[in-house]
Amino acid sequence: MYLRRYLGEEGVIANPDVFDPDYLPEELPFREGQMGELAREITFFARGNAPTNVLLWGPPGTGKTATVRKMLREASAVFPLRTVYVNAWKQRSRLSVLSGVASSLGIPVPLKGVSADLVLQRIEEFLEENRAIIAVDEADRLVGREDVLYDLSRLGKNALLITVANGRDFLSLIDRRVVSSLFQAEVEYPPYTVPQLTEILRQRAEAGLYPGTYDDQVLRACAAVGYSRGGDARVAITCLFNAAKRAEAEGSRRITLEHVKAARAALPERTPLEPHLSLIVRILREKGPLTTKEIYEEVRKSYNVTIRSIRNYVRELERLGLVKVSRAPRRGNVLVVEAK
Ligand SMILES: Nc1ncnc2c1ncn2[C@@H]1O[C@H](COP(=O)(O)OP(=O)(O)OP(=O)(O)O)[C@@H](O)[C@H]1O
Ligand SMILES: [Mg+2]
Repeated sequence: MYLRRYLGEEGVIANPDVFDPDYLPEELPFREGQMGELAREITFFARGNAPTNVLLWGPPGTGKTATVRKMLREASAVFPLRTVYVNAWKQRSRLSVLSGVASSLGIPVPLKGVSADLVLQRIEEFLEENRAIIAVDEADRLVGREDVLYDLSRLGKNALLITVANGRDFLSLIDRRVVSSLFQAEVEYPPYTVPQLTEILRQRAEAGLYPGTYDDQVLRACAAVGYSRGGDARVAITCLFNAAKRAEAEGSRRITLEHVKAARAALPERTPLEPHLSLIVRILREKGPLTTKEIYEEVRKSYNVTIRSIRNYVRELERLGLVKVSRAPRRGNVLVVEAK
């Protein structure tokens, strides 16, 4: 970067790492309340009390992962505790989640030929002597394969569990006993407002863009994009970064509203698994078998969806083993979906 500045080739983006999904800013404004609640449970547990397991929930891009990672980092620096972060979306099987937990705890587990039960046993043995905070991110992705949540919920008094999900509807799809032991407290993450997103973007821009390349109008426009997609800071940040890249590619020293507009149009659609899947299962349980079109009519009452996305959700539910799909008798390719 210095070299570019020296050569007089300063562009728009001073530090692209600031826009990386894994970048963790020093400050997480507007999440003091949520971090305070987490801090309270962590401190209570760290002082030797039995854990109060917490569920964190809120729509995409509301700072759940960022606050959890921050609090785990601080907890392991301040207390004699191990901390574990696993992402249930990336580690999809029971074995891979448990292996992830074991390796974060520093438990040596052979890479091959090991059973999930054995890994679980090793974790249990470790927790007889040690205390740990275990965070399971994107836990709603485990619906249909929630056996690992059951395992974790039985780890006992030396493990504080922090479960993260997009909503709490998935709870209705998993075993009641798991629900009652995993979710003794909950912390909600509401969508961000436009002023909040603007402030979050200002912080990013100051850290990642050259001064004078953006103005309040640009930040507000990107904030509005994040707001329109459910108060999502990730969307707002991506929008700003993409607008900056466009400006830079054009050789412009300033991001304009035109760049933001183009960046907005190029944003990928991201449909969270939650709460649509849970809603579909609930509808099927209440109303019995329905065709995809009938499901669409029902879901449409609550969400702005397309029939094509309903087909995708149904396919995902089928893959998860939560519904059975069959062809309607004498009706060609009409599909009938039934909750299992
Ligand atoms: N209060 C905040 N201040 C600064 N940056 C934030 C804040 N909240 C979220 N972010 C940033 O927004 C992005 C998305 O946040 P995060 O990954 O924590 O969302 P999430 O709630 O875990 O979403 P998902 O449900 O999709 O996993 C990250 O880059 C994060 O650093
Ligand atoms: Mg997350």
